Amino acid sequence: MRRAVVAILVFIIIASTLVTWAILPHESEPVFMPLSRSAAVEVVALPKPVLKGNVSVEEALQNRRSVREYTDAAISLGELSQLLWAAQGVTNAQGFRTAPSAGALYPLDVYAVNATGVYHYNTQNHSLGRITSTNVQENLTKAALGQSAVRTAPLVLVITGVYERTAAKYGDRAERYVHLEAGHAAQNVLLECAALGLGAVPIGAFDDARVQAALGIPGDHQPLYVIPIGHIS
Ligand SMILES: Cc1cc2nc3c(=O)[nH]c(=O)nc-3n(C[C@H](O)[C@H](O)[C@H](O)COP(=O)(O)O)c2cc1C
Repeated sequence: MRRAVVAILVFIIIASTLVTWAILPHESEPVFMPLSRSAAVEVVALPKPVLKGNVSVEEALQNRRSVREYTDAAISLGELSQLLWAAQGVTNAQGFRTAPSAGALYPLDVYAVNATGVYHYNTQNHSLGRITSTNVQENLTKAALGQSAVRTAPLVLVITGVYERTAAKYGDRAERYVHLEAGHAAQNVLLECAALGLGAVPIGAFDDARVQAALGIPGDHQPLYVIPIGHIS
């Protein structure tokens, strides 16, 4: 009799543990629903990227400078489209992108922040999914140690990396590779800014957790660069 009671208790404990494990989100899994797969998310279509410009790569390299003060002029949807495409746009039928990626595993995500909210760049259909319509720029500025460029820029791009996407193949090299990739993507954005006559600064001084909280992004999306962008004042 006692053995039966013990067996039932053990069964209840194991069953409830399994049910709890199945229901609750696991620490390594983002609670965040990938925006591209969520039907409820408001999608903002972007114009097709323009592939011909008036500025050569050499001129863009020569003219790029960190710019931290901007006019009040807004960034147009066309400019936003060019900048996101430069960061991580898809450039061929196989899904390869503007920036190189170790093993083509693409660990980076790009978020766009402005006064109207926070948006996630969907590389596959070159669109934005709105995460929130709250203006988080002041919180993002605080997360970036009060750097005023984050507050005053009409657009801030945030590049994040998910180490696990790359670690699945490259193990301990993943962290290095993801950081290198963020550099590629950021430089693409900075050169596109130079080509469009916009000013930008790549910011690395920020509190990771506060950036994640300000944007409302998942815990495994590691913020790597915050890039305020605007018209040069
Ligand atoms: C990894 C990295 C982190 C940076 N972080 C900041 C930053 O937090 N704030 C800032 O104003 N500039 C930042 N910068 C920009 C540098 O200050 C700037 O590149 C440097 O002064 C050289 O000027 P230039 O970009 O105009 O050539 C960063 C640059 C790099 C590469």
